[in-house]
Amino acid sequence: MDALEALRSRLLAEIAAADTPVALDQVRVQALGRKGEITGLMKDLGGLDAEARKTAGQALNRLKDEIAAAIDAAQSHLGEAALERRLASERIDVTLPVAYDGAGRIHPISQTIDELTAIFGAMGFHVEEGPHIEGDFYNFEALNIPADHPARQEHDTFYLADKPDGTRKVLRTHTSPVQIRTMLRDKDKLAQGQPIRIICPGRTFRFDHDATHSPMFHQVEGLVIDEKTHMGHLKGCLTEFLRAFFDIDDLPLRFRPSYFPFVKPGAEVDIGCLRSGGELKLGNYGEWLEILGCGMVHPKVLANCGIDPTRYQGFAFGMGIERIAMLKYGIPDLRTFYESDLRWLRHYGFLPLERPSLTGGLSR
Ligand code: PHE
Repeated sequence: MDALEALRSRLLAEIAAADTPVALDQVRVQALGRKGEITGLMKDLGGLDAEARKTAGQALNRLKDEIAAAIDAAQSHLGEAALERRLASERIDVTLPVAYDGAGRIHPISQTIDELTAIFGAMGFHVEEGPHIEGDFYNFEALNIPADHPARQEHDTFYLADKPDGTRKVLRTHTSPVQIRTMLRDKDKLAQGQPIRIICPGRTFRFDHDATHSPMFHQVEGLVIDEKTHMGHLKGCLTEFLRAFFDIDDLPLRFRPSYFPFVKPGAEVDIGCLRSGGELKLGNYGEWLEILGCGMVHPKVLANCGIDPTRYQGFAFGMGIERIAMLKYGIPDLRTFYESDLRWLRHYGFLPLERPSLTGGLSR
């Protein structure tokens, strides 16, 4: 039995010394393999008499089980250690600054839409969207622009092919059709005391292309309808928005009477600026820059949407998103928005973690 005990301690020592799975496997083969030491001793049992075979056999079996278990334990230990080493070597510190090279950028149009959504969202507006391909009713008729109305000419409309029934669809020329869709859908909620308070940012299309016009551009429409909203609210809301968006606390606004078929009275809004040396600066400098159109929703438009104009009223406004983005971020040429030039995007785009936000500050 001494020989067996010596074999046991040697094998256990070898198991303890094996520091790789391969080395461990060698010990396994050497001890328990077909030609292994323990296997050999088992074979030798055949030469013993029955009584001695039984005692020696039991002892060998115990040794075999013990060694097999020790190898298994060592193996899982080696596995854990290897995993720990791998985890340590692949450890990532998520608090390190991001390596930005090659990172994508947020397009200034997306950024601007997010910013204005944040500002209007904080004022209780929610976002509505509508289709780009519109029916004549939504884009013109319901907005008090009948077929023979001169305003139709100003809209340089893209028409789709005539349908068999003689009607034709248009690419929406402004975001105002979303007003109509929302009022038609939500008119009954007004009676339950729920005001309509929406903004509709989105694509618009006009048959026009030069340095300051693109056939596809973006607008944001705003609409508020309830029983009491008046022109003062319109002024307050737009003042609040423009000051927050451009981050100029004393930015002056001027409301000039103007005409849009779907509002009455209608106005264009100018903001204060300074033009000098080919540069434009926004602020309280005594000069003016036109920025958007607005007014009180025309009673006919309300009636067209099934809303009683003797009971409900409200305001609407619309502005170009490219325009306010160009002004805020100093982008000189409208066409560059759509050229997909990566150098341009790297320059004017926004890094995902460094974009201006309502909570993080809206200016860079
Ligand atoms: N829809 C108008 C345009 O595209 C803008 C506007 C919207 C004006 C709402 C007044 C009220 O020019």
